[in-house]
Amino acid sequence: MKTKIKSAAIIFSIMLFVITVFTDTNIAQRNKQNETQKSQTIETFAEDFHSYSKPQTIRVRHVELDWNVLFDKKILQGTATLTIERALKTKDATLVLDTRDLKIEKVEASSGDAKYAATEFQLGAADKILGAPLTINLPANAARVRIHYATSPNASGLQWLEPLQTAGKKTPFMFSQAQAIHARSFIPLQDSPQVRVTYAARVRTPKNLLAVMSAEGNVQTSARNGDYSFKMSRPIPPYLIAIAVGDLEFRSLGKRTGVYSEPSMIEKSAKELSDTEKMVAATEKLYGAYAWGRYDLLVLPPSFPFGGMENPLLTFATPTILAGDKSLVSLVAHELAHSWSGNLVTNATWRDFWLNEGFTTYLERRIIEAVYGKPRREMEATLGRRSLEEELTSLDERDEILHVDLKGRDPDEGFTGVPYEKGALFLRYLEETFGREKFDKFVRGYFDSHAFQSITTETFVDYLQKNLLDKNPNLINRADVDEWIYQAALPKNAPVPHSDAFAKVEAQIQSWLNGKLAVKDIRTQTWTTQEWLHFLTKLPPNVGTKRMAELDRAFNLTTRGNSEIAFQWLLMSIRNDYTAANPRLEEFLTTIGRRKFVKPLFEELAKTPEGKKRAVAIYAKARPGYHPITAASVDIILKPKT
Ligand code: BES
Ligand code: ZN
Repeated sequence: MKTKIKSAAIIFSIMLFVITVFTDTNIAQRNKQNETQKSQTIETFAEDFHSYSKPQTIRVRHVELDWNVLFDKKILQGTATLTIERALKTKDATLVLDTRDLKIEKVEASSGDAKYAATEFQLGAADKILGAPLTINLPANAARVRIHYATSPNASGLQWLEPLQTAGKKTPFMFSQAQAIHARSFIPLQDSPQVRVTYAARVRTPKNLLAVMSAEGNVQTSARNGDYSFKMSRPIPPYLIAIAVGDLEFRSLGKRTGVYSEPSMIEKSAKELSDTEKMVAATEKLYGAYAWGRYDLLVLPPSFPFGGMENPLLTFATPTILAGDKSLVSLVAHELAHSWSGNLVTNATWRDFWLNEGFTTYLERRIIEAVYGKPRREMEATLGRRSLEEELTSLDERDEILHVDLKGRDPDEGFTGVPYEKGALFLRYLEETFGREKFDKFVRGYFDSHAFQSITTETFVDYLQKNLLDKNPNLINRADVDEWIYQAALPKNAPVPHSDAFAKVEAQIQSWLNGKLAVKDIRTQTWTTQEWLHFLTKLPPNVGTKRMAELDRAFNLTTRGNSEIAFQWLLMSIRNDYTAANPRLEEFLTTIGRRKFVKPLFEELAKTPEGKKRAVAIYAKARPGYHPITAASVDIILKPKT
């Protein structure tokens, strides 16, 4: 009996040996083949100051997520399985991932079959901005790594809302926001925009809630079972992985467009966003086929920290764009435009962010022109340039540069209007110089030739040189281009948008201030939101309490529901000590968490000692409802000076 077992064991060992040698030779051969095949298409990676990962040695290709969404603990718990690929010739067997506040339970590896075996890992010290590197020692030939983990209730990339913080008040809500470097707070991965991955996910939620993701698989019916599956089959940068879970309803907007929101907001959302299908068609006409299949939007609760986020197939949006008159839908044009500039062609690192946002702001205005006409585009471009000029008066020189240096800084605090508006003006300058026909062809070619790639500013400049400057000599010097991209301030040749409607607004402001025109005779009846915004931003900053009261009596500005107008009015109210707006200010700051509004209002308050006192009191009430990103920005403004 014993000898039988022994000889069986020997035979088995020999078999195993033969198989191992055989497979090893096979793998070696295949690797060799791959080496020669891939030598033409070898990936290069730019230095990314915001990731610990080393994709040049081992890079992740695919992410498989399996999550339980645990509302009672405010955590995601489950596994991330990463399919990896080794670079040529490297024998490096350590994989470094980005993480932040993750609880890592166990790491396993597999060499391609289904079997996973535990493998060693170390979680390094946490850096305040970057989080902690997770170093995994991989066995030779490992092809997949599975990390068993849970997020922290304070994950910077997730917000967990209590039922009372939702519109419906009955069920909880959770959503993610990964850009710029928050994906690592809910997925251990190589969190650099140049490491594009495909992904799949299985998500378990309470049975009465719906999960949606930036992927295929979002359901349109009200059928819910608490078990959802998703697939993103195109390679995307990690900052575009997104999830939301809540009491959501879907409404179709067109043949490939639609909107999700809480049931009580769906009607209003669908009305406001009813031009979305038209916008997709207009963008395709300008820049080529939409690459992602469907284009849906998700209107979130008001604590969403941004205006919008271009998560592929499913733009996340703030409810503050629901003005009732479609006047703030340029945000949809913007997030849709990212389906080309950003999601197809992506910034390789965060210092190339202007490639995402400058192009997108330029495209946004082209879409607005195509759908709503040139006067509307010129109004919005004028507002954009004005806000840039104002911001430039207080920015550090290093932040006025498109190719911005963010080393050692948190991108959340480093981003400004410069990549958006200076970037868009640069592209408009190119359009005006080379003519629309040539420039449109150039932009289209740029998208086509870099689709699904992440590129640096240098790659763009090379492409620009070869495909626009060299082909149309003597129109622009390379020095002009370099000034736009690598130097501070706005170049003298920057385009100045012009709006006739705005000129009329300005003339009336002058007459009113000179006493030639009574407030009731200012012809505001036909004003759009943009004209109101121009009116308010063009008033002298110290217009005074008396005139503020006069305006308020005539136009009810304190009670305006339009979020952009309300924001501008409240900012002026703080500056001019117009106390009648105090209750509205407090209401605004305790119900809306969009950072673009909240941050400047707290900054303005903090400029005087009494204002700061009020700010601290309001913030005590508001902070529990704010998203971690908004709270982090306000903390910096209101923290006691040490
Ligand atoms: N991708 C950005 C939002 C973003 C940028 C999030 C950087 C995190 C880091 C989005 O496309 C955007 O620019 N949103 C703007 C709206 C737009 C109309 C200017 C916003 O949220 O205000
Ligand atoms: Zn954007």
